[in-house]
Amino acid sequence: MSMKWTSVLLLIHLSCYFSSGSCGKVLVWPTEYSHWLNMKTILDELVQRGHEVTVLASSASILVDPNKTSAIKFEVYPTSLTKDDFESIFVTLINRWLYDLPKYTFLSYFSQAQEIFWEFTDYIRNLCKDVVLNKTLMTKLQESRFDIVLADALCPCGELLAELLKIPFVYSLRFSPGYAFEKYGGGLLLPPSYVPVVMSELSDQMTFMERIKNMIYVLYFDFWLQAVDMKKWDQFYSEVLGRPTSLLETMGKAEMWLIRTYWDFTFPHPFLPNFDFVGGLHCKPAKPLLKEMEDFVQSSGENGVVVFSLGSMVSSLTEERTNVIASALAQVPQKVIWRFDGKKPHTLGPNTRLYKWIPQNDLLGHPKTKAFITHGGTNDIYEAIYHGVPMVGIPLFADQLDNIAHMKAKGAAVKVDWITMSSTDLSGALKTVIDNPIYKENVMKLSRIHHNQPVKPLDRAVFWIEFVMRHKGARHLRVAAHDLTWFQYHSLDVIGFLLACVVTVIFIITKCCLFCFRKYAKPGKKGKRD
Ligand SMILES: *[C@@H]1O[C@H](CO)[C@@H](O)[C@H](O)[C@H]1NC(C)=O
Ligand SMILES: *[C@@H]1O[C@H](CO)[C@@H](O)[C@H](O)[C@H]1NC(C)=O
Repeated sequence: MSMKWTSVLLLIHLSCYFSSGSCGKVLVWPTEYSHWLNMKTILDELVQRGHEVTVLASSASILVDPNKTSAIKFEVYPTSLTKDDFESIFVTLINRWLYDLPKYTFLSYFSQAQEIFWEFTDYIRNLCKDVVLNKTLMTKLQESRFDIVLADALCPCGELLAELLKIPFVYSLRFSPGYAFEKYGGGLLLPPSYVPVVMSELSDQMTFMERIKNMIYVLYFDFWLQAVDMKKWDQFYSEVLGRPTSLLETMGKAEMWLIRTYWDFTFPHPFLPNFDFVGGLHCKPAKPLLKEMEDFVQSSGENGVVVFSLGSMVSSLTEERTNVIASALAQVPQKVIWRFDGKKPHTLGPNTRLYKWIPQNDLLGHPKTKAFITHGGTNDIYEAIYHGVPMVGIPLFADQLDNIAHMKAKGAAVKVDWITMSSTDLSGALKTVIDNPIYKENVMKLSRIHHNQPVKPLDRAVFWIEFVMRHKGARHLRVAAHDLTWFQYHSLDVIGFLLACVVTVIFIITKCCLFCFRKYAKPGKKGKRD
């Protein structure tokens, strides 16, 4: 290492000790794909501030690029699957969600979605076993003396690791199916009368019938559908920890929940002191485009450009759908930049260019960009909000339908159904969001709200992680609800006791009255006779 680098590193470490508390060692239990992209922003910032970040990644993980040098360390543990296996598991699950699920009715839709999610989390549990049952690895982690575990709550295991290593943990989470983890792990209170449950596609302004729908969803999610196969997870956790426990109980020990939304995106609802809403923390100002792309963007003239991406998870669409989309795009006066990795559709217009990868953030921040056609991933919607670009949503799976419903309710997006849409539907939707100024106005309103926060979301996320390291937890933020049983939580024991008191008092009073009545009524009668 050169002198220069040594002194730079030394400087970082010094700044760490003197300005922001103390440097810490962070162990990360990640989730792949877009979740990782979001979390990586936090990790990069932690590294910048001098903390040591180690990510636990399986040998099948696709987030580790061995060719890229990174300040983030990767602890790669062996697993029986290969990278190809992992990707094919994922692609199969996504395709089932994309092509099979829309054919089902309401109830079977969710039970099928549950099955897909269970398969996915079964895979996560196996990865978890590869870590916690590997004595060599666990000893190594023990000896590394980490200060904190940062975990994506969607894929459990981080909380178990923290428990085994006896260190505090912080969650990053967009949502869990039916809000099960937030509600029953975190203790978050979400009244069904005005908080639409995730995946219901409702807004917070609900009619009586919509409130009935929301209640049915809530009951269905609470009592029927399970986010993960709880029995298996509970048993696994009890075995590993050597005492009867459950996944949700262990999750309840989280010091802090960093939820990846904010009030520009989600509808207002009550929250607890150990929840913070850090949506859009990955957003940043646009950088200049490469010359070739900039020239293409400039060639659009007054009409501007449309940016189109269905995200990183979906690379192939059916040929029929691709052609419908391409011919819709050919009808608009704008130039279109389409992130697409597949066979070139024959209906592709001269105004559309295909790219395997696009600098999405830089494009959305470009003054010529008029609209964004998106699948509605949370990260993507936040980039559109950040740069104030109206959206056409083609939601595909998971939370995307709900995300687009939020943007629609806030007047910043138009939704088209990806299975049934025709070319005219898509080009019509695009014309609407571009020609009707209300969409731009609404998304700019959201953008201003997003930019006008007392502390930036990334700084808040990092603050809480450093806070938990500095104070070895954040117990003072934890509601005592976690220590109560369900009947204590709902005060059923107290209500029962008070009812018993009332009944006893009524009983005693009645008895007394009867007694008095008998005692004094008789002489009274006699008296009357006299
Ligand atoms: C990494 O580099 C090696 C050798 O240069 C190459 O064969 C391999 O494909 C690269 N891997 C990735 C993921 O780019
Ligand atoms: C346990 O982990 C270590 C370190 O990652 C690895 O070298 C070893 O092969 C693992 N053992 C098993 C049985 O997977």
